[in-house]
Amino acid sequence: MSSPPFTGPGEARGPEGAVYDPAARTHAASTPPSLHVRAARVLESNWTGTSTVPSYGLYPHQWSWDSAFIAIGLRHLSPLRAQTELETLLDGQWGDGRIPHIVFNPSVPLDAYFPSPDFWRSSTAGRAAGAPRTVQTSGIVQPPVHALAAWLVHRADPGLSRSRGFLARVYPRLAAWHRYLLHRRDLGGGSLASVVHPWEQGMDNSPCWDAPLSRITPAPARSFRRADLDHGAAEDRPTDLDYGRYVRLATDYRDGGYADGAGAFAVEDPAFNALLIASEHALARIARELGATGTARHTRAERLTAALIDRLWDPAEGMFFCRDVRSGELIPERGVSGLVPLLLPTLPRDISTALVRTAGSPHFGLGDTTRLVPSYDLLGEAFDPRRYWRGPAWFNTSWLVERGLRTHGEQARADALRTAALELADTTDFAEYVDPYTGEGCGATGFSWTAALTLDLLHSDTTVTAVLAAKGGDRP
Ligand code: SER
Repeated sequence: MSSPPFTGPGEARGPEGAVYDPAARTHAASTPPSLHVRAARVLESNWTGTSTVPSYGLYPHQWSWDSAFIAIGLRHLSPLRAQTELETLLDGQWGDGRIPHIVFNPSVPLDAYFPSPDFWRSSTAGRAAGAPRTVQTSGIVQPPVHALAAWLVHRADPGLSRSRGFLARVYPRLAAWHRYLLHRRDLGGGSLASVVHPWEQGMDNSPCWDAPLSRITPAPARSFRRADLDHGAAEDRPTDLDYGRYVRLATDYRDGGYADGAGAFAVEDPAFNALLIASEHALARIARELGATGTARHTRAERLTAALIDRLWDPAEGMFFCRDVRSGELIPERGVSGLVPLLLPTLPRDISTALVRTAGSPHFGLGDTTRLVPSYDLLGEAFDPRRYWRGPAWFNTSWLVERGLRTHGEQARADALRTAALELADTTDFAEYVDPYTGEGCGATGFSWTAALTLDLLHSDTTVTAVLAAKGGDRP
């Protein structure tokens, strides 16, 4: 597939092969613009010139996994902008290989977002870990969706990618990123990467973190000022107690020079590691495109898959769980993270079958009581349909599960999830997340990854995907 350079939302191309086809509404001047055009407008208005903010109010800088998902959608509008999105993020990479979870925009006032650059102090506190001197960043990371995104962006316009040397430039950086995760973050000694802060896994206040976080002494509430409450309703956001613990963990990490290993919080998470494995397979494809065999990377991805199953799979529950590395125990909370490994094409059949069953069970209600995949167990004690990652459904995790269902031959379930995601993106004005039962929008609207993944769902050719999945391949 090749796309023209981005020409502005009004000239953006219509969707192709979509089950849900709001483009039917585009043609008369009096009818509202299509979903495609509106998604393109969201990404255009959140574009800073070199990257895309998740949302100008709540998240006014560049976020790591947001940018990867955004690039996956942007490739349908402008492969050049999608490449630029990833390259801008990689300009913030540290010498030790970590890709920081935020790359700060120096023109945004310090009080617009907390924790701001003067909290993280990356260029001084992160000096020993090789933080960049000029770009200011956070010091923690986010899930490694980047190599997968880079490969999909390349495939959107291989000619442009080759002429710009895109893969040749990003490959060594992505390889260093994976090296960092595989070596510095193997804190449990079982080959999986650990996260050292709930923000790293991206599902900030998931009940999966409640037990390991309960050991952390919160920073006093008066020692910081939350900026998120200026933009989101308090009942939709993490609590002050959560924030106190987030701040304590980040402060301790910073004060230790961002060195890995000593922190009180270390968790092996199934989604984080599944995305690392998917990205390792993508890195193998990138290596092959650049003239190497990629075999060693595929082999490593297979070893990691075996470690993921060995350390985090619970056959009795039909679910992957997080492992608390400090206690050594699995954390018995069902989060959507435990369904995300479904996206791995080489998952053994009995595991993929069990995951599909669990997704449709009363715990997640997919195809039954819920519209999109809830972030947390509907039957869990901590379930709350509105509070951020304690129940609401998010578009990125639903996109990952949709991809997983399709990869494992579950076309009807995947089609239903895709249709629901497109409908809800439409009716909620690209909400940050939704009530899983009613589909009512929560958090910000005009949220970039919602718009980007809407574009990706509109543009994916599900027939091609089904054929590729049957052959054990990957969808474009
Ligand atoms: N999601 C977290 C926040 O609210 C960390 O990026 O800032």
